[in-house]
Amino acid sequence: MCGIIAYTGGEDAAPVLFEGLKRLEYRGYDSAGIVTINDSGEFELKKQVGKVQDIHNELNLLDLSGSIGIAHTRWATHGGVTQKNAHPHVSNNSEIAVIHNGIVENYKELKALLVSKGFHFESETDTEVIPNLVEYWMDSKHLNFIDATMKTLQSLEGNFAVVLIDRDTRTIIGAKNGSPLVLGVGERKKNELFLASDIPAFLERTKNVVYLYDGDMVVFETDPSSKKRSYQIFDFRGRTERPIIRPIQSVSWNLSHATKGDFDHFMLKEIAEQVETIQKAAAQDPEHIQNITQSIRNAKGVFLVASGSSYHACLSAGYLFAKLASFHINTVIASEFSQYESFLKPETLVIAVSQSGETIDVLDAVKTAKEKGCQIVSIVNVVGSSLTQISHKTLLLNSGPEISVLSTKTYTAQLAVLSLLAYSLAGRYEEGVQKLKFLWNIVYNLTAATTRNKIKELATRLATHDHIFVLGRGPLYATALEAALKIKEVSYIHAEAFAGGELKHGPIAMVKKGTPCIIFVSRDTVKTILSNAMEVKSRGGYIIGIGPEPIESFDFFIKVPESNSLNPICDIIPIQILAYQLALILGHDPDKPRNLAKSVTVR
Ligand code: AGP
Ligand code: GLU
Repeated sequence: MCGIIAYTGGEDAAPVLFEGLKRLEYRGYDSAGIVTINDSGEFELKKQVGKVQDIHNELNLLDLSGSIGIAHTRWATHGGVTQKNAHPHVSNNSEIAVIHNGIVENYKELKALLVSKGFHFESETDTEVIPNLVEYWMDSKHLNFIDATMKTLQSLEGNFAVVLIDRDTRTIIGAKNGSPLVLGVGERKKNELFLASDIPAFLERTKNVVYLYDGDMVVFETDPSSKKRSYQIFDFRGRTERPIIRPIQSVSWNLSHATKGDFDHFMLKEIAEQVETIQKAAAQDPEHIQNITQSIRNAKGVFLVASGSSYHACLSAGYLFAKLASFHINTVIASEFSQYESFLKPETLVIAVSQSGETIDVLDAVKTAKEKGCQIVSIVNVVGSSLTQISHKTLLLNSGPEISVLSTKTYTAQLAVLSLLAYSLAGRYEEGVQKLKFLWNIVYNLTAATTRNKIKELATRLATHDHIFVLGRGPLYATALEAALKIKEVSYIHAEAFAGGELKHGPIAMVKKGTPCIIFVSRDTVKTILSNAMEVKSRGGYIIGIGPEPIESFDFFIKVPESNSLNPICDIIPIQILAYQLALILGHDPDKPRNLAKSVTVR
């Protein structure tokens, strides 16, 4: 979590950092702060609790002067959401400022060491040990900023991305270990450099990106006479002394992908984009799909591993692999994967699915599997992310940046890619491609204004309820789980999903007059799921049916044409829209739900 951005260039840093922060806010939004170094060599620092725009309205973040600085938007892990705990944090001697993403797991010992050396601490964060350790090493061992930082980084335990700035030498250092950090190289004539947690933070200014790897430490320096800014990458673990050369790659995204355009919120924009993103996800290189299909066939034991919505996509795919290809796949929640360690062998294949490619639970699972010699295939949206770096093979979702905290377009893209694999495994790859193409029209109608308005009507009806139940059978059980998650995440209404047949085993006790119950219906589950609908209806429940045909017992109906094994892709869309509308009616910001962050880089 947390958004990090750093800038050095010929322009005022504050506006660049402020814009960057706004684009990164989806990663965390408890508090934010910026520090710059002004022309007299002084730090200018502002930080506060709240969202970036509100902080700016209160403090005017744009009047920080200087052309070099670092900025942060926080998702608190250690220490409450207070001004003092907001980043940047500054060393006792006011020479070094730091922003940090992740957790310093051994911060207590490091803090105790520093306190014993006379250091004092302003905040309750783990982060504050970092600038003070650098100060300590610079003073006690007479190290320069770069060497002291390297020594400090070596002593930190846990996953992190960290950026430090030294007031005296105007040097910026960024380092990555398990949390995201990318380097942006400005156009040649602009001579500017960036570091950020994610590309949209600087996409407006450059498309040239260097993907950093765990263990990388990048140093930005400015030649005092020519004013030319340059960077060098080192291995902070000291495995190689020479600078590391990493390629500069050009990203294909443009700014319109990272801005709201005509939409009020990213969430709605991304829901609407599904007309194209499902098609883009389906347009995979056939050879690459064949190759991965072969790896699945050859494996002795295949695991699908993911968290949150990505896990729901895997669960759905598990049904599809069974149904289409008679192939058994073990679908496991990433944070539970270690329980299965004894089944992991070099012939095992692990397919890790993650939008961000940075979810720590998924990375942990993959690392465990790699230690056992397993082959790793990842299905990822973010190019160059940590997961792609540790996988043997990767399939990209090609959805463009997903900014809203809620997964929408990448969830359906994951389903599309997993469906392709299932069809391919069944020897029906071309049929899968054609079927996915055919969805275009259905998705277009589902995201059009007419459907959106109809769902708004439903949202008005449901907004006053405390509980919503969601039922589905087979792959649509996974859809029900995803639907309940969408509703909970953004409306804060309690929504709970059940496999249709499970209702009578207990949860039906909670149904009373007016309890809303969403039911996903497909041709092959219609009989049984309708019995479940009747069970709810006869206890006074309010039935919302989603499926190909209206049925008498439905109190509200949203038509989604039958697309057989691809039903899960289309059926979730009305609920994504419902969740969005509920958030608006209840006065919540759909792009920034409380307590959440886009990528979960802590355990
Ligand atoms: C869903 O809307 C998300 N908020 C969340 O559950 C997400 O799917 C999960 O954290 C996994 O993220 P990933 O796909 O980036 O690994
Ligand atoms: N651990 C740091 C803090 O609590 C950074 C948290 C994060 O990465 O979100 O401030």
